[in-house]
Amino acid sequence: MEFFDSHAHYNDEKFDIDRKAILDKLYNEEQITRITCVGYNIKESKFALKLAQENSFLFATAGISPNDIEDFTEINLKEIENIGKDPKCVAIGEIGLDYYWNKENKELQKELFIKQIEIANCLDLPIVIHTRDAAVDTIKILEEHPVKNKGIFHCCPLNQELIKNALRLGFYVSFSGNITFKNAKSEPAVSLVPLDRLLIETDSPYLTPEPFRGTRNDSSKVKLVAQKVADIKGISLEEVAKITYQNANTIFKI
Ligand code: NI
Repeated sequence: MEFFDSHAHYNDEKFDIDRKAILDKLYNEEQITRITCVGYNIKESKFALKLAQENSFLFATAGISPNDIEDFTEINLKEIENIGKDPKCVAIGEIGLDYYWNKENKELQKELFIKQIEIANCLDLPIVIHTRDAAVDTIKILEEHPVKNKGIFHCCPLNQELIKNALRLGFYVSFSGNITFKNAKSEPAVSLVPLDRLLIETDSPYLTPEPFRGTRNDSSKVKLVAQKVADIKGISLEEVAKITYQNANTIFKI
């Protein structure tokens, strides 16, 4: 059995002390044989690409997230485009809207999101979407600015209306440790997503699944997310591992 963690941040400083050891262990001992290392600003997108170039089982994305809006300049957008041209860069992201952390600059967030959709379309790449407390505007932008190669709703909020719209627009839905949390309404949300549109991720070092909440997350714990999906769907862990691996290869064109 092998797993593809479709979204993690080994570029994060929380891995500075043991990055190489963790990555080696994941690949050699934990059956995590593919990981997408996701950028969220200029510095971390460059670092994600460097890690992907150094580790054959790692793939990178490049993008400026709505929570890194200070990086929004024309020069930096050009930089994202340049990183996106590298064969190890498999998507533009994470990009999107976050009205939970930032309510004051909604128009600027929308502009940044749209400009990066245009970069993805120009480079023939999918996008990785970050959306928080902004479901209506996110869907509206995707309707008005279609993404040629679609993409992924990363750490998808367990909002059934949002999930239905994401699926209608042809996107994949990725679940993280959020579906394992107590009191999460995970069952109706996961049940909505057909297996051929479902991805699993950790968002490491954040969002550690139960029963390890409060500790640093790593990609080995994507198995707990996979097990939760298996339980809800009534299928085996092996099946979840296999189909989500194939789906990630398909959307990232690996
Ligand atoms: Ni993330």
